[in-house]
Amino acid sequence: MNITLLDKNQDIPYELLLLADPSKSVIESYIHRGICYLAYHDSYIVGQFVLIHTHPQTLEIVNIAVKEAYQGKGIGRKLIIKAIEEAKLLKATSIEIGTGNSSIQQLGLYQKCGFRITGIDVDFFIRNYEEEIFEDGIQCKDMIRLRRDL
Ligand SMILES: CC(C)(COP(=O)(O)OP(=O)(O)OC[C@H]1O[C@@H](n2cnc3c(N)ncnc32)[C@H](O)[C@@H]1OP(=O)(O)O)[C@@H](O)C(=O)NCCC(=O)NCCS
Repeated sequence: MNITLLDKNQDIPYELLLLADPSKSVIESYIHRGICYLAYHDSYIVGQFVLIHTHPQTLEIVNIAVKEAYQGKGIGRKLIIKAIEEAKLLKATSIEIGTGNSSIQQLGLYQKCGFRITGIDVDFFIRNYEEEIFEDGIQCKDMIRLRRDL
């Protein structure tokens, strides 16, 4: 699998970004100031992540997704490892990620990749999203913040 930067002439893969973030307007608020990386299987885009500088030495993965048919095959873990490597190359001293309280699999993956929970933004998804979000019968209300020192 190849992971490369989104080229300026390439379309933004909204279909993939929307898997991780159901609001196109929220995506629009960060995509143009972020660095988007695409994962290819042969010549087919199967995943992506977006990095943003939130502080001079802190990068945040603001969106990460793998195409449904390719999930559960280790691509997400490879994307997180690549994000960590890129953040180090960009001289960051920490990398952050946030996920919903209902995203149990994601919380497992991020902790397996060395992220630790640093805080909870209570009611973040109630305040910022018009539609209610549910995953496996759990309402997504709070943003769990995680960080890994580099
Ligand atoms: C979250 C996501 C990026 C993970 O990518 P992935 O390629 O499916 O993940 P991986 O195959 O690398 O799995 C990594 C870990 O996730 C967990 N996992 C994967 N599939 C799972 C499943 N079906 N059930 C439970 N846990 C699972 C396992 O803990 C696995 O660790 P392991 O390798 O030790 O078994 C992907 O599932 C996705 O795009 N989901 C929809 C969008 C999304 O939720 N984005 C994140 C928003 S915060």
